Amino acid sequence: FMVDKGNRRHFMEKEIHEQPEMISHTLAHYVDFVGGVSKPLDLPFDFAKIDRLAISACGTAYLAGLIGKYWFERYARLPVDIDVASEFRYREMPLSNKDAAFFISQSGETADTLASLRYCRKAGMKIGAIVNVRESTMARESDVVLPTLAGPEIGVASTKAFTCQLSVLATLAVRAGAARGTISLEQEKTLVRELSEAPRFANQVLKLEDQIEKLARELSRYKHVLYLGRDTNFPLAMEGALKLKEISYIHAEGYAAGELKHGPIALIDENMPVIVIAPHDRIFEKTVSNMQEVAARGGKIILITDQRGAAHATVETMETIVLPDVPEIISPIIYALPIQMLAYFTAVFMGTDVDQPRNLAKSVTVE
Ligand code: G6P
Repeated sequence: FMVDKGNRRHFMEKEIHEQPEMISHTLAHYVDFVGGVSKPLDLPFDFAKIDRLAISACGTAYLAGLIGKYWFERYARLPVDIDVASEFRYREMPLSNKDAAFFISQSGETADTLASLRYCRKAGMKIGAIVNVRESTMARESDVVLPTLAGPEIGVASTKAFTCQLSVLATLAVRAGAARGTISLEQEKTLVRELSEAPRFANQVLKLEDQIEKLARELSRYKHVLYLGRDTNFPLAMEGALKLKEISYIHAEGYAAGELKHGPIALIDENMPVIVIAPHDRIFEKTVSNMQEVAARGGKIILITDQRGAAHATVETMETIVLPDVPEIISPIIYALPIQMLAYFTAVFMGTDVDQPRNLAKSVTVE
């Protein structure tokens, strides 16, 4: 089949803009928006009967899995072991044939992830594949295929596949919580309703394009960028850094905001912007003190927050990107967008080959 860019400059830009629609398709596959509950799904295991969940993946898919861990543990009280696939299968972690393992992959072909899948299968675990390509090897070799309905993704740097992976993981965590009795039917309905709002909020965030493009022009002058976040914004900080380095070749690191004082603070000066991903959540104040530490050392802060956060952040920023106030469960899906847009426009200003960055491949089929 043929996929074209439409009226966009790059596939990545097109794929960023497709997200509201693809997130909506993906969510609708797993939840019944009218009834406010999970749709029936033929799982080869019972969430109520497993003690642990293992997750493995590479690159951006791994970071989706890391956010999934927060959700499974928060909503379903289900402990999650997660690692990048190339470590997972060699570190001899104890696996139980009573447990399940999820593998996340856009292509369904990544060699390391596939090897991890086979390793868990050998251990007798039940295997779920969260893949975007339904005919892929991982889909064939799993007990259950949990599709992301992102449509073909051409840009090497993953965007819509990532937010669709998050959408699947969020619905699975809610489903697991309902099965394990850690959330009530009432809570399940609330969470499903909140999930259903993701496409609308994503659309609103895409409208911040002009502001983000201007900021990207500024960012493209720097050689190093630090991303900080707490809770699910920590994996998102790593995803922001990954996106930026992959396509703009600017050195970037993502850190847990609380770890700032244990290392990266040594690097802070006016030449290293710090991008802080901090909606006004229960640990917002902690992140504000991290920002104050940055400001006190002459660091430049780019704050990505919501309306309440912008009103309460008592710190001077180089730029503040204000997103709508969104429910906690969809926050990682919505906050992924400004991060992708910032990396995208920065790369455009740098003049790199955005869809085909040097040395990278869309699907890595060697270990
Ligand atoms: C490559 C791509 C990344 C992707 C990773 C995993 O490194 O450049 O964008 O996240 O592979 O790919 P997968 O197809 O398994 O999601």
